[in-house]
Amino acid sequence: GTLTPFTVPLTVPQTLRPVLRTATTDYYSVTMHRRRLEILPGTRTEVYTYNGDLPGPTIRATSGRRVVVRQRNRLGMPTAVHLHGGATAPGDDGSGTATIPPGGERVYTYPNQQPHATLWMHDHTHHMEAEHLYRGLASLYLLSDRTEAALPLPRGQFDVPLVLRDAHLDADAQLVWNMDDADNRTTLLVNGRPWPRFEVQARRYRFRLVNSSNLRFFLLQLADAGEMTVIGSDGGLLEAPVTVPYVLLSPGERVEIVVDFSRYQPGTSVVLHNLMGPGPFEQVGSVMRFDVVPARGRDRSSVPQKLRTLPPLPTPTVRRTVELRMDEFGTGHQAYIDGKVFDPARIDTTIAWGSTEEWTVTNGNVFMPHNFHMHLVQFRVLGRGDGPPDPTESGLKDTVVVWPGQPVRLQATFDTWRGVYPYHCHMVDHSAMGMMAQMKIV
Ligand code: C2O
Ligand code: CU
Repeated sequence: GTLTPFTVPLTVPQTLRPVLRTATTDYYSVTMHRRRLEILPGTRTEVYTYNGDLPGPTIRATSGRRVVVRQRNRLGMPTAVHLHGGATAPGDDGSGTATIPPGGERVYTYPNQQPHATLWMHDHTHHMEAEHLYRGLASLYLLSDRTEAALPLPRGQFDVPLVLRDAHLDADAQLVWNMDDADNRTTLLVNGRPWPRFEVQARRYRFRLVNSSNLRFFLLQLADAGEMTVIGSDGGLLEAPVTVPYVLLSPGERVEIVVDFSRYQPGTSVVLHNLMGPGPFEQVGSVMRFDVVPARGRDRSSVPQKLRTLPPLPTPTVRRTVELRMDEFGTGHQAYIDGKVFDPARIDTTIAWGSTEEWTVTNGNVFMPHNFHMHLVQFRVLGRGDGPPDPTESGLKDTVVVWPGQPVRLQATFDTWRGVYPYHCHMVDHSAMGMMAQMKIV
């Protein structure tokens, strides 16, 4: 269908209410089911949902308080739920071979023994993660702590998650699923709405950008190239804000920005462009529009020059290399890590508990970008090619872009759970084609 961009209002996913709260734990209940939702105005699109919404409802958690989620599967095929960026026991990671059978349920425990971060939940069913995520199984999990809560950043209605993704819709507005179908996924959704408009007051906003696309990269810039202040990445706030003209967001990554709309006259509209679309005049070249209205009340928020202190970087004792690669031509694509297609029965890397390791991740392709995601840990990016990391990736990360010809060095400490966890490209069509491997912490 054709749709005039910036006509559908943005919505913000609802916060999920706990079914029970005890002194230590919040209990939630989620049902996965199919639903026909209005994505394009006047039509209904069948999607897979957590509790009937796209994205699903947001869980708000606090460091030190446990969250327990009962997930009921009414989808008619096996599923598994992963908390992306969470340090969870292997059995609660959603990534093993233990799935929730159709009609069944599973209880996932999230200890939240980690600092604040914008996390998200998504399907991770072996070989099916790409299709299930594409069909809608994603939701936010916002973990807060005292450090974050004490800062004067924009909060409440001025702290807005923006979950970005693309979709291939047919003439009847139904989702078309084909592996590695990036060129045809040309409908852009923000919080499940196509090219929405969002009314903003002339004041500061915090936006939590999440890329839940299977393959699409976003290079986001305001139409007037107005500045954005990056305050956070995958693993929470940076040590200090960084002012930039655009931000890059590969699948699975999060970037948090503050935009001060008080610099615009009320009545101004500012489009958020994606510079990685084929061109600024293509639909995939614009993402959404901000319509500025007068501020109601005084803006008491600010962005302090010091946001947090990151944990110290121990000296790595083990060095490894990892190569991501995929067949670039022909059909029947396969994808590899270190030349091997994923096998859930194989352990690829054994890691001593408590150790700090330095991994050099390379992209074995010539034209195709990849990215690299590790479960369980938040890592630090030490270097990109011969240079330092980009300032926006100087905080805690769990997913990092890996361009061809530009190895990325990163460092992680494995001092939480023992057990088997995957690492993979988060362009999930690639991981579902085999670009995934497993580490065992012993
Ligand atoms: Cu967000 Cu293994 O995934
Ligand atoms: Cu990849």
